[in-house]
Amino acid sequence: MNKIAILYGSSGGNAESIARQVQDLFDGNADLYNVESVSTDEIRDYPYFILGTSTTGIGDLQDDWDGFLSTFARIDLSGKKVAIFALGDSASYSTSFAESMKVIYDEISDKTEIVGRVPDEGYTYDDSNAVIDGVWVGLPIDEDNEYDMTEERLANWVEALKKEFV
Ligand SMILES: Cc1cc2nc3c(=O)[nH]c(=O)nc-3n(C[C@H](O)[C@H](O)[C@H](O)COP(=O)(O)O)c2cc1C
Repeated sequence: MNKIAILYGSSGGNAESIARQVQDLFDGNADLYNVESVSTDEIRDYPYFILGTSTTGIGDLQDDWDGFLSTFARIDLSGKKVAIFALGDSASYSTSFAESMKVIYDEISDKTEIVGRVPDEGYTYDDSNAVIDGVWVGLPIDEDNEYDMTEERLANWVEALKKEFV
C-alpha cells in the first residue's frame, strides 16, 4: 500500500483519465480506486487522499460519488490531508463550473486538512461556488474546452502536492 489513495468517480471517462494521469505523475507512489466499487476497509488507513469527480446536473456531484461521499466522510480523517479535483465544462456550464468539488469540500473540510487549492487564474467562466476569495477549493480541469491546458495544470498541481504528501 502506498501513502496516497486516488479516488475517482467518472461517468464518461474524463475524470478517470485525469485520475490515471495524476497517478502516473506520482511515479508509482499512489493507488487508484473507482468509488463505484471501493470499500472503506480498502482505504481507511491512507494518510493522504486525492478525490476526483466530474460535475453533473447543475453543479452536482458525479453519481457514484453521490452514493459514496457520506461513507467516505465517516472515515476518521483527522490528521490526514485531502486534495480534490473536479472536471467541468466552462463553456456549456459557465455558471456552475466544476462546482462538484465544492460538494466534497463542504462534506469534509471541517474534518480534515484540505490541500491543493489553486488560484483562480487562467480560467474563463462566469461563476462557480467552488472559488472562495479567488482560490479554488481544489483543481478544476476542463477537458471539453481547455484540454490543451491540462498537462501543465496537472504537473503544477502534483508538484505542489508532493510537498504536502511527505
Ligand atoms: C448532464 C451533464 C451535466 C453537466 N453539468 C455540469 C456543470 O454543472 N458544471 C460543469 O462545470 N460541467 C458540467 N458538465 C460537464 C462535465 O462535468 C464534463 O464534461 C466532464 O469532463 C465529464 O467527465 P466524465 O467523463 O468523467 O463524466 C455536465 C455534463 C453533463 C453531461
